Amino acid sequence: MCGIIGYIGENNAIDFLHYGLKKLEYRGYDSAGVAYFNKNQLTVYKKVGQVDNLFDEKLLKVNSNIGIGHTRWATNGKISTENSHPHQSFSKTITLVHNGIIENCTELKNKYLKGINLQSETDTEVVANLLEFFYLKNHHKLDSIKILMSLLKGSYALAILFNDDCENIYFLKNRSPLVIGCGNNCNFISSDTLGFEKYTSKYIEIDDFEFGYINKKNMEIFDKNSKKITKNVKDCANFQKINNKMQFEHYMLKEIFEIPDAIKNTCELYKNFESIKIINKNLFNKIKRIKLIACGTSYHASLIGEKYFREIGFDAYTEIASEFLYNKQIWQKDTLYIFISQSGETADTLSCVELCKKHNAKTLCITNVPTSRITKICDYTLPICCGPEIAVASTKAFNGQVCSLLVLSKYLQFIKKINIKKKKLNKKDTHSTSINKLISKIIKISKSININTFIRQVKPLTQMVKESKNVFFVGKDYDYVLALESALKLKEISYINSVAYPSGELKHGTISLVDNNTLTFAYITEKKLSSKTLNVINQIKSRGGKVVVISPFIELQKFENIDYFIKLPEVNNYFYPIISIIPMQILSYYVSVSLGNNPDKPRNLAKSVTVE
Ligand code: F6R
Repeated sequence: MCGIIGYIGENNAIDFLHYGLKKLEYRGYDSAGVAYFNKNQLTVYKKVGQVDNLFDEKLLKVNSNIGIGHTRWATNGKISTENSHPHQSFSKTITLVHNGIIENCTELKNKYLKGINLQSETDTEVVANLLEFFYLKNHHKLDSIKILMSLLKGSYALAILFNDDCENIYFLKNRSPLVIGCGNNCNFISSDTLGFEKYTSKYIEIDDFEFGYINKKNMEIFDKNSKKITKNVKDCANFQKINNKMQFEHYMLKEIFEIPDAIKNTCELYKNFESIKIINKNLFNKIKRIKLIACGTSYHASLIGEKYFREIGFDAYTEIASEFLYNKQIWQKDTLYIFISQSGETADTLSCVELCKKHNAKTLCITNVPTSRITKICDYTLPICCGPEIAVASTKAFNGQVCSLLVLSKYLQFIKKINIKKKKLNKKDTHSTSINKLISKIIKISKSININTFIRQVKPLTQMVKESKNVFFVGKDYDYVLALESALKLKEISYINSVAYPSGELKHGTISLVDNNTLTFAYITEKKLSSKTLNVINQIKSRGGKVVVISPFIELQKFENIDYFIKLPEVNNYFYPIISIIPMQILSYYVSVSLGNNPDKPRNLAKSVTVE
């Protein structure tokens, strides 16, 4: 849940650390810190607050050609300078930054570090002291790292400086992401290629239980048996395109404007559906049941997916990842487990994949990050092509995930039909027919989405929402899921309490909260259900509440009990979940900004939740 960065080269490390940490701030922004060598002297500088707060006049004056840095999302220990990284060992032999959680930290501390007075509440300081303990014994850096690695349980990506070596940055990793950026007379180490992509597109992915070091010109990487390994250098030039805010005030707004492209690019990729390696006909032939597992916004996309799969006759269920682990699971061979994760790094979701793997279950992930851990541990990956999502609140990825689930469900329907007819799939069958038609339709819809039209409609509501203490969202069926996602979007960046209910459920208790200070948004995208939600609107109005309707059906505008109407474009029923959320993504953004919040970095949150 943190970002780590390291630079060694001929230029000033401070500038590279500053750039890298800014780019990694999406991983956490409670506090930040750096450690650097200056004339063989190692200095640690850290502060509570965001990265720009750290890089003050004093730090920007420093000149150094080797350093490591960290941006934190507090897990072990409160937000404080003491708990910020880098952490140092007792006699300052070791200085390190860490992303992850050490699960056996107390046990290791009791066994090896008796009598050591720790300065912070973190597991990371324990790791620094453990490494010092082994290094002072055997005076061999890599051997000490290897011993450390054999003892640590949990997740870690560690970048390490030894105070007697100002020419190398050491590293080791398990379960937390780590990449090396290969520059010209310089090398980087980072949680994500974003940390260095302005300077080099060449990178090497470090796998679990690998360790080694980088210096200005070289690097050495070892596997857990200390065997030196050579790894492929990859190119991230393609990931780089859209990683700055351009003319937008915030990433979130930029990412909302990218929704049409996110939908289009995801669909373009699926044009040749079978060429995406995931699609293994034999796998799908045998599937009778689907379980979808995810967290947050991705969970809401899964709920839509569940409905899509049910429409085509599949037994489908969705579970919140953090609950899946504790619900009694009935393991059946013909169940496909689908994991949805924008980042591919969410710890709760990853633990569920691991549990499924233990039971030999078939696993497929839908993710926006093709290099993420989830793609390494699932049997199959269905990518979405939404481009990097930097703002903490997920927007365009949701639209992409829903698209992906719709196409996948249609593909399954297609396979099922073929099976029923006992026909064999051939190239013509798979590449023609309904799926490509569906894809063309979605692409057409993506081209017709006009974000500015939505902005013009919803911006005038900002004040009304801003002044509300409680906001309700209601809807039925698919619309209820949109209500859930809307409530999450609004609360996470505006801090206004917002709750979603199935339209029919309000009268079973919550309606007691409705009075003339309550604002309710009602989704009506399914014509056959509109009268039901209109009944609920009447119930709210007769208790003095205000109601905004989000719907494609213009005739509803005449309904006297509606205070404000947000018009959606008219599309085929299946497509509403892809586009109907956009007005609330936009409105949440404007409410957040007008309250003086930073929608890209809402309080207490981080983009990738890498702790359970
Ligand atoms: C909400 C949001 C979170 C994430 C959740 C899962 O806007 O961003 O609720 O959706 O933490 O993250 P991923 O999809 O990366 O697994």
